[in-house]
Amino acid sequence: MPREHLRAPLQLPSFKVPNRIVMPPMVVWKAAEDGAVTPAILEHYRDSAGPGMVIVEATVVSAEGRLARQQLGIFEDRHVEGLARIAQIIHATGSMASIQLHHAGRNTNLENTFGIPLVAPSAVPAKDLVPEALTEDGIERILGCFAAAARRAADAGFDAVEIHGAHGYLVSQFLSPLANKREDRWGGSLENRARFVREAARRMRAASGSRLLVSCRLGAAEAAPGGLTVEEGIQVAKWLEADGMPFLHVSAGIGREPQLGPEGGPWSNRLLLGAAVRKAVGIPVIGVGGIVMPEQAEQALAEGLVDLVAVGRGMLADPEWTAKTLAGREDSIFRCRQCPVCHHFRHAELCPARTESAPGVRHPGG
Ligand SMILES: Cc1cc2nc3c(=O)[nH]c(=O)nc-3n(C[C@H](O)[C@H](O)[C@H](O)COP(=O)(O)O)c2cc1C
Ligand code: SF4
Repeated sequence: MPREHLRAPLQLPSFKVPNRIVMPPMVVWKAAEDGAVTPAILEHYRDSAGPGMVIVEATVVSAEGRLARQQLGIFEDRHVEGLARIAQIIHATGSMASIQLHHAGRNTNLENTFGIPLVAPSAVPAKDLVPEALTEDGIERILGCFAAAARRAADAGFDAVEIHGAHGYLVSQFLSPLANKREDRWGGSLENRARFVREAARRMRAASGSRLLVSCRLGAAEAAPGGLTVEEGIQVAKWLEADGMPFLHVSAGIGREPQLGPEGGPWSNRLLLGAAVRKAVGIPVIGVGGIVMPEQAEQALAEGLVDLVAVGRGMLADPEWTAKTLAGREDSIFRCRQCPVCHHFRHAELCPARTESAPGVRHPGG
């Protein structure tokens, strides 16, 4: 059968993932300003049906952690009802429903937080705004927010949650020596810097009463001098595994990941970072980065680089990416052009894959 690796199911502790294709978390900024689910968000997830695992976009656990005014929220119990509708939509095709739990930390601005001051491990700015260094009580409060969010995700019917531990947001700020200058038990040594993510995961498992698999998108390395090294990222992955994490999703921390393969090679550095982590742990690893077409995804699995393949912009370019792949209609996929900055961050209508599709072929996106 073609694409046999992509089609192979994967048994996780409490869910059999029907195929190896993952829709990674991708914000679409279509929530209401109070974080509630809107019809546009439901439509977005309905359009993208079919990946073995769908990880709902970065969803904020606490009001001051907002990254945009229209970011999806999970910081109040009233958010559960709408989120449950997303979980139902994902389950309708037999997919595993996960949701990414996020806090921006210093990496946002006062407009996005509706005037609430920014907080971070240390008073080190990401851009021009200096965040407040979190007190011990402040850390305790945010850990509580992650735990409460996990409980809400379980109430909404999700199978898993993913801690957003990558891309320079709060959890990644704790991990990185570039942003974490603390001299208490939350900073300094790698063990101390990793305490926040490990403690968040522990409390999330406890709060959800084992109704959820608690995973993490780990920003496992940083190219910038003085940043988190690959060796450190691998050590954190090993600790998360030892603590009971059932699978991991690997990406970069603050900024780009280091160069791991030859320039112009077949695999992105980000995917190779996932492969490096996979070699060191015994749990399944989701790899991501630069996979645009099914043949690349199949090859990554066939070479044993990672266990599941996330296709981000490829699925924004064509929400039917999975459906077409599994139906053997790959030729009709609207291919992502890997633009320097993806228009879906703000102006999805400018996506060339959606506007320049073959004459006579109406793209599902309009
Ligand atoms: C529009 C857009 C939104 C994104 N939102 C998130 C997000 O919410 N959380 C996250 O961890 N990564 C986010 N990402 C990163 C993607 O999940 C993915 O890791 C990245 O695009 C690289 O994969 P790709 O080459 O397959 O696109 C976003 C990327 C794009 C293009
Ligand atoms: S805007 Fe460009 S990078 Fe983003 S999905 Fe469309 S083609 Fe791909």
